[in-house]
Amino acid sequence: MPFDIARTRAAYPALTEGFAHFDGAGGTQTARPVIEAVAAAMTAATGNRSTAFVPGRRSLDLVAAARAAVADLLGAEPGGVVLGPSATALTYTLARTLGAGWRPGDEVVVSRLDHDANVRPWVQAAEAAGATVRWAEFDPATGDLPAGQYADLVTERTRLVAVTAGSNAIGTVPDVAAIAKTAHAAGALVCVDGVHAVPHGPTDLASLGADFLVTSAYKWSGPHLAAMAADPARWAALRPAKLIPSSDAVPDRFEYGTPSFPLLAGVVAAVDHLATLDPAATGSRRDRVRAGLAAAQAHEEAVFERLLAGLADRPWIAVHGSPARRCPTVSFRVAGSAPAETAAALGAAGVCLSSGDYYAYEYFRTMGLRDSGGAVRASVYHYNTAEEVDRLLAELDRLAATGERMAG
Ligand SMILES: Cc1ncc(COP(=O)(O)O)c(C=O)c1O
Repeated sequence: MPFDIARTRAAYPALTEGFAHFDGAGGTQTARPVIEAVAAAMTAATGNRSTAFVPGRRSLDLVAAARAAVADLLGAEPGGVVLGPSATALTYTLARTLGAGWRPGDEVVVSRLDHDANVRPWVQAAEAAGATVRWAEFDPATGDLPAGQYADLVTERTRLVAVTAGSNAIGTVPDVAAIAKTAHAAGALVCVDGVHAVPHGPTDLASLGADFLVTSAYKWSGPHLAAMAADPARWAALRPAKLIPSSDAVPDRFEYGTPSFPLLAGVVAAVDHLATLDPAATGSRRDRVRAGLAAAQAHEEAVFERLLAGLADRPWIAVHGSPARRCPTVSFRVAGSAPAETAAALGAAGVCLSSGDYYAYEYFRTMGLRDSGGAVRASVYHYNTAEEVDRLLAELDRLAATGERMAG
């Protein structure tokens, strides 16, 4: 069945404002059921977690429901889902916790393709432990992250390999399963950054080979909250720094302070929403989420192909990378226009793209593009349309024409 784009767009109230949103990689619009669920949770009587009274039990239920929803999204166990304010915060918690057990001579492997949220926490934890950092390099021409290099990078001293499931800068989808196999053969753990990849297709913790997998709900139609999934037994082996009176249970002991209960209701609603993207899907919520994201992926890929073709047709646009497997995300520069100027000109026309390095710090530094403003990024999400791509391309043409007039 073709993807019902009109029905899909109707689920996002913000789309009526008329902007063309090509910055889903920075954060998507919020689906109506999410807004309603958050409002309902804030309207109802509320209380901190307690079994003693109904509002307190509601909060307990919301935490459990959010763990179950994320578990269905990632193919994890609810008891292995740690909830937190952001992927960055969760990765820092894990890095500090694992790093406390590292010794001088231990090694960690990070990649120059990753968002800094899956780089710096590991580099800093390694520095604190006197451990060595080894770097996986991307191919500067294609933006691919060759999995073969991990055979040399990973040694019997490697404690952790951190790698992205999808680059937020240029979309590259590395062969995480192959990288994880190499890491596991040496006894190392694997932390996978799923923040960019998870919104763009079905995800499965086990088939990725991830020991830890992090995702942020605001990249998949939900609120600004994140989750990290692992086997509950994996969490049980770890002792994070924590307050004395806070729960020592798994996964609660990795969560700091009082969670935003209403936003947890939004996380549940967001996963439920993804489960509706293929209206013909049946079965468990996990089955329907997978089907919904597969349907969305096919739609996104078609829209993205049109965008890539349009960019390639314009010789005054330089596209960075051409990865073999990718999320629908591309970075580019327009000749004669600094990335921030391009983004501002498009923004003035209601076409929303971001510019800069989007925290893919090592990628842009390695490419020598950081100091000159990085690039402009267009990412496609399931509510984007071919017409919006044409609108973006027309605005780029207008920008180029203005630039020529000014230069002439
Ligand atoms: C690939 C990737 N990893 C990590 C992050 C950080 O996520 P958070 O804002 O939840 O810390 C982002 C945010 O843009 C991202 O795109």
